[in-house]
Amino acid sequence: MSNTALITGASSGIGAEFARYHAQKGGDMVVVARRQEPLEALKLELEAAHNVKVTVIAQDVGTPDQAKALHQKLKDAGIEIDILINNAGFGGQGAFLDRVLTKDQEMIDLNISALVTLSHLIGNDMRTRGGGKMLQVSSTASFQPGPYQATYFATKAFVTSFSQAIDQEMRKDGITSTALCPGVVSTEFIETANLEGTGLSKQKAATPASVAKCGYDAMMKGELIAINESALSFVLNWLVPLMPRRRVLKMVESVQVK
Ligand SMILES: NC(=O)c1ccc[n+]([C@@H]2O[C@H](COP(=O)([O-])OP(=O)(O)OC[C@H]3O[C@@H](n4cnc5c(N)ncnc54)[C@H](OP(=O)(O)O)[C@@H]3O)[C@@H](O)[C@H]2O)c1
Repeated sequence: MSNTALITGASSGIGAEFARYHAQKGGDMVVVARRQEPLEALKLELEAAHNVKVTVIAQDVGTPDQAKALHQKLKDAGIEIDILINNAGFGGQGAFLDRVLTKDQEMIDLNISALVTLSHLIGNDMRTRGGGKMLQVSSTASFQPGPYQATYFATKAFVTSFSQAIDQEMRKDGITSTALCPGVVSTEFIETANLEGTGLSKQKAATPASVAKCGYDAMMKGELIAINESALSFVLNWLVPLMPRRRVLKMVESVQVK
C-alpha cells in the first residue's frame, strides 16, 4: 500500500521531525519549504537511514497560487499523496497597529489560504482514490485571542475550526483531518516571530521531535485535536472557557508583550 506524505515547512523545526518520524515508519515523502539546502540534507539523511524515497520541492507555498503550483508539480511528477501535513507557518509579535500590514497579510496567506488550498486540492485527489489523512498544524494559540500576536492567534483559530469541520464532512470519504495544537516548541519559530524576550519565549519548550510524534500518532488514529501537553490541554479546555474574557486577554497579553 502506498504511504506517501506531503510535508510543508520541512526545512526546520517540527516539519523536519515529521519527516524523520514518517521515514522511521517506512513512508515515502515530498518535503517542501523555501530553503533548498536543508531539504536536500534531510533527503540524504533519511534515504541513507531508511528504505524510503524523499522528493525535494524547494518552493514558496505562501499564497494560494503557489500552493496550486505545488499541486501541479506533484501531478506532473505522478506523485499521489496519502498523507498531507500542512505544517508551514509563522507568527509575528507586536501591537497590531504597529506591525507592517503586509507581513500580517503574508501570514494569513500562508497559515490560512495556502493550507485551505492544499487541503482542497489534495483532499479531492484523496477522495477520488478512496481516502487519506491530513494533519493541520495549528497551535494552543487557537484556543483564545492573542494580544500582541493578534493575527497569528486568529490564523490558528481558523485552522483548528476548519480542520474539525472538514474532518466531519470528509469521514464518509475515508479522509480524516487532525489539528495539532502545540504549546511552545524549541524551533526557529520564536526568532522568526520576533518573540525573543517575551514571557512566552521563557516558558519551558517541548522538543520538535516529541511534538511531531504526538501529532503524527494522533493523525494516524484519526483524532480531531492533539495537544502535546496534558496539563495545558486541561487548562485550555476546562479553565480558560470559564474565565472572564478580559482576564484571559490580559493573561495572554502578559506573555506576548515586550
Ligand atoms: N514553535 C512553536 O512554539 C510552535 C507552537 C505552536 C505551533 N507552531 C506551528 O508549527 C508549525 C511549524 O513551525 P516550527 O515551530 O517548526 O517553526 P520553524 O522552525 O520556523 O518552521 C517553519 C517552517 O515553515 C517553512 N516556511 C515558512 N514560510 C514558508 C513559505 N512561504 N513557503 C514554504 N515554507 C515556508 C520554513 O521553511 P523555509 O524558511 O525554508 O521556507 C520552515 O520549514 C507552524 O505552523 C507554527 O505556527 C509552532
